[in-house]
Amino acid sequence: MEETKAFRWLLDVQPLWPASGGGQATQSTAHWAAGTAAQHALTFLTDGERARALRFYRPSDAKLSLGSNLLKHRAIANTCQVPWSKAVISEGAHKKPCYRPIAPSTKTLEFNVSHHGSLVALVGCLGESVKLGVDIVKMNWEKDHNTVMKDGFEAWANVYESVFSDQEIKDIAGFVPPTSGTDQDKIRAKLRHFYAHWCLKEAYVKMTGEALLASWLKDLEFRNVQVPLPASQMDASERNGGDWGQTCGVTEIWFYGKRVTDVKLEIQAFREDYMIATASSSKQIKLSDFEELDVERDVYPLQAQ
Ligand SMILES: CC(C)(COP(=O)(O)OP(=O)(O)OC[C@H]1O[C@@H](n2cnc3c(N)ncnc32)[C@H](O)[C@@H]1OP(=O)(O)O)[C@@H](O)C(=O)NCCC(=O)NCCS
Repeated sequence: MEETKAFRWLLDVQPLWPASGGGQATQSTAHWAAGTAAQHALTFLTDGERARALRFYRPSDAKLSLGSNLLKHRAIANTCQVPWSKAVISEGAHKKPCYRPIAPSTKTLEFNVSHHGSLVALVGCLGESVKLGVDIVKMNWEKDHNTVMKDGFEAWANVYESVFSDQEIKDIAGFVPPTSGTDQDKIRAKLRHFYAHWCLKEAYVKMTGEALLASWLKDLEFRNVQVPLPASQMDASERNGGDWGQTCGVTEIWFYGKRVTDVKLEIQAFREDYMIATASSSKQIKLSDFEELDVERDVYPLQAQ
């Protein structure tokens, strides 16, 4: 069987499309959208996509929506070799965004997007035989730490009892951090372990497309979940430079008590507080390293398109 290769892209929207006069965080989306850079980028969306992006109250959310749509159009245009105007985003089962080629003989693309914080990730591969899912999580240390200090970790884990199996809840609540650090370090390690579980499950359910509607969330159980270390905590010899931390791909997947062996699942740390999980319905697929895109050079269409 020919090896399928999935590409993985990452776009950080934080430095992009500043509002005129700066100070984006406190401004309205309408003010942000009036900036020259945002106006330019928004012209590459369809009317509906632009309207949806501008409906977000906070400019930071509007930017994620803009970034998400730009990446989807770019992925379709590149992979299916169609002009930007024909790289139309549709919705498949359970509203999972997809591409429906105009002519049946033309190329197709499987893809999935996630955004959190200031990052947008897209994973994609040619064809439709493999299903893909991606999820980004970002720890909110201040908020999460306060909640854990107030209610304890068991209460924290129990909030998610409709999402995780009983064993997963036990694993999350009872996780013993491998480090011998301060109490704060231990809480951080437990929170990272929880977020790794969450991120992997989200990537899996997004791969299937069922997402929030999946009735089997509790019957999908991940065991031996490893938490990827951020680059700052890796041995110097292991570091590959930049913001990328460890990748862990040894999670066992169990579904209704049976081991699932044909799904590829991995999770990678990015900067201090992000983790990104990727799920693929085929183990044969090769997942390329994440490529950090430059919006001007790699994403925007040429004006002629
Ligand atoms: C949209 C959804 C699929 C993911 O939401 P999220 O995790 O908050 O957000 P993410 O940033 O990771 O993903 C958003 C993207 O998912 C994609 N998406 C939407 N519906 C999807 C579906 N049914 N399947 C897969 N991907 C979907 C979209 O591309 C969307 O981005 P866009 O609107 O800019 O195109 C959400 O409806 C959901 O079901 N979340 C699961 C929530 C949950 O209970 N998780 C528990 C752990 S599994």
